[in-house]
Amino acid sequence: MRQNACHPTKTVPCQPVNAAGKIRRVGAGVGPCKGAQERLIRVPCSTGAWTRPARSDRRALAAVAVTGQPGQPLRVMIAGAPAAGKGTQCAKIVDKYGLMHISVGDLLRAEVAAGTPAGRKAKNFMDNGDLVPNEVVVEMVKNKLGEDEVQQNGWLLDGYPRSGEQAEAIEKEGIRPDIFLLINVPDELLIDRVVGRRSDPATGEIYHLTFKPPPPEIVSRLVQRSDDTEEKARNRLRTYHANVDAVVGYYKNEVVEIDGTASMDMVFEDIVAAIDGIRHLA
Ligand code: AP5
Repeated sequence: MRQNACHPTKTVPCQPVNAAGKIRRVGAGVGPCKGAQERLIRVPCSTGAWTRPARSDRRALAAVAVTGQPGQPLRVMIAGAPAAGKGTQCAKIVDKYGLMHISVGDLLRAEVAAGTPAGRKAKNFMDNGDLVPNEVVVEMVKNKLGEDEVQQNGWLLDGYPRSGEQAEAIEKEGIRPDIFLLINVPDELLIDRVVGRRSDPATGEIYHLTFKPPPPEIVSRLVQRSDDTEEKARNRLRTYHANVDAVVGYYKNEVVEIDGTASMDMVFEDIVAAIDGIRHLA
């Protein structure tokens, strides 16, 4: 284990990064990642550079990190474009860390289904792939985060904040994450993910007709979201790109970018390494 230049007081091994913050590619057999197979996890260092633990050591970090800060509930934000895999990964994160999952999209869909005043206000915006007005969303999220169970178990906030204004609103309440996971997937892959997504209303499980085919016996009960058309997805993507930089700007010190193009299990492996690595370094 060599001394980490980015964390001089810690003996955490890191991979080299270039000036743009990308992990320098290492040749086959030289390091833990091989050429085009390499996936990126980037974590900020105190110097402002980016780094990550080497794969072999990430496993070791994961083993110690979960017990590294007993009693401290973990606070995680997860962001990414529509269909980047947030919901898929949240299910896995909740299983592993026991966090309270707060999905703003799910909360809003529940309001719409129940026909509440908030739901009636939100419906058209959601159907068009636009952001629901802050007057509906911000209080809803603040109230959820304030619940005792959420405070005690820690939280996984999925789909909030989606604009600089939303980030500022919780910043004013002193609410910050320990880590901000940003799942990156190129737009051209996302449309396929959107139109092929189906979910099981009985279990909440998310499937994909190609990438995660459902068992044949449940296919007839699967549902498709009303905003999962190519046209609406393109608008959701425009909305995402117009806002993501402002949001990330609030979490420069907490952001970890995850390559979301890998398999679902590999993405999760990187997320676990990122979360455990951050807890270890804290
Ligand atoms: P929301 O429900 O949050 O939708 P979204 O952000 O567009 O994200 P999605 O749920 O579409 O995708 P995901 O990233 O969870 O992907 P998934 O895991 O399902 O928000 C809906 C709407 O609510 C918004 O448009 C807005 O109107 C409103 N809203 C929400 N939050 C708001 C806020 N803060 N302010 C204002 N309005 C708000 O995966 C997608 C598919 O890909 C699945 O089929 C899955 O099986 C597959 N897949 C996942 N990972 C992989 C992988 N690694 N490889 C291959 N396939 C994969």
